[in-house]
Amino acid sequence: MYPMLYRFTASGPTPENALAAHAIEDSIRPHDRMYRHADLTKVKGVVVVPDRAPLRAVEAGYFGDSYTAFDGADGAPLDADDAEWLADRLIEDGDHRIASGAAGALLLDTPTAQSSWLFFGWTVQAAPTICAAVPSKDPLPVTTLAPRSGIRIRTATLADGDTVVDLVSLVDLLRPAEEVSAALDLMRHALTDATDDGPLSHRHNHFLLAEDADGRAVGVIVCGPPHWIARPGRASGLVRRRLLDRLSTVHALAVRPEDRGRGIAQQLLRQAEDTFRDAGYAVLTLRHQRDLTRFYQRLGYTSSNRLSMLLPSVGLLTLADRPWKHAFKLLSPAVSVTTVQGMPTITGVLPD
Ligand SMILES: CC(C)(COP(=O)(O)OP(=O)(O)OC[C@H]1O[C@@H](n2cnc3c(N)ncnc32)[C@H](O)[C@@H]1OP(=O)(O)O)[C@@H](O)C(=O)NCCC(=O)NCCS
Repeated sequence: MYPMLYRFTASGPTPENALAAHAIEDSIRPHDRMYRHADLTKVKGVVVVPDRAPLRAVEAGYFGDSYTAFDGADGAPLDADDAEWLADRLIEDGDHRIASGAAGALLLDTPTAQSSWLFFGWTVQAAPTICAAVPSKDPLPVTTLAPRSGIRIRTATLADGDTVVDLVSLVDLLRPAEEVSAALDLMRHALTDATDDGPLSHRHNHFLLAEDADGRAVGVIVCGPPHWIARPGRASGLVRRRLLDRLSTVHALAVRPEDRGRGIAQQLLRQAEDTFRDAGYAVLTLRHQRDLTRFYQRLGYTSSNRLSMLLPSVGLLTLADRPWKHAFKLLSPAVSVTTVQGMPTITGVLPD
């Protein structure tokens, strides 16, 4: 029996009741080989966290006092994102109640008549039930906005440097000014390295501009290797080099305010995805502000507080970058998503 982490939301008149009802439903769910099953019948009690107060300790421990990571009064219930964050901390920090088999239950601030909780904790893996055919998990409906007519998308050139920087500056990077200007300088520098024959516009980077019928630039997307690849300790040099051709990230996606809401961002993102797919990339990742979760989900992205992936010779690599959320989209059938430590985790980015 393997220890297993679980995490789910459930509603009911009391947390005990909600957990029990969910456990019954879960026990009759058909087994999926890709999605191991935690045995919720073994959970020893429920520990309820009714408000936001414990976030204060989390904030002090992780962010010091220079930065307000969590808004909201102590006595209020948690929103879903903050609850995910707090659940992560209670698990990682080995809260003794959770470690000894009780379920954490965080009261969520939901507008429904019944109370909802985020449950999480450790139990053991459930014994497989009868192995039925695996029903495919319904993906979120991916909507297609009607593209605005007259929009043309082209790769950016060195001559577009100022335009690219102007548009990228529309993205609030939530960083000090000097970090923002360093990031913009890197983008300008990357524009000097155009590829003549490669699928991407600039070696491992890809710059696309959207122009209206008058040739005026209205939107931009900038993709390239994620910065964490270069951070020491993340992965060996060999793994990093291999990742450069398999995984890319959207550093910026922006549309001029007067041209928003007409599908231009969607067009830019789709075109970039197609290019990376054709170039043999396995996954496109990005970091986004919380209010854009739904926007990216509708475009087929999986969005959560962390980016998690299993890599050969590295094991589990996870990144969290408060207050951002991380999202990814699989571009190749060779990659899949599994659940590790309760988080969606990408596997198969690099073959073993
Ligand atoms: C986010 C952004 C790129 C979207 O561009 P766009 O061309 O308007 O996007 P699309 O037309 O393809 O899609 C519009 C949808 O995104 C939603 N959306 C855009 N910005 C949003 C926001 N801040 N919060 C919630 N939803 C948002 C719109 O409500 C719309 O959804 P709807 O069709 O249900 O109304 C644009 O708003 C922008 O440039 N914002 C500033 C820069 C930024 O934040 N970039 C994202 C960095 S992660």
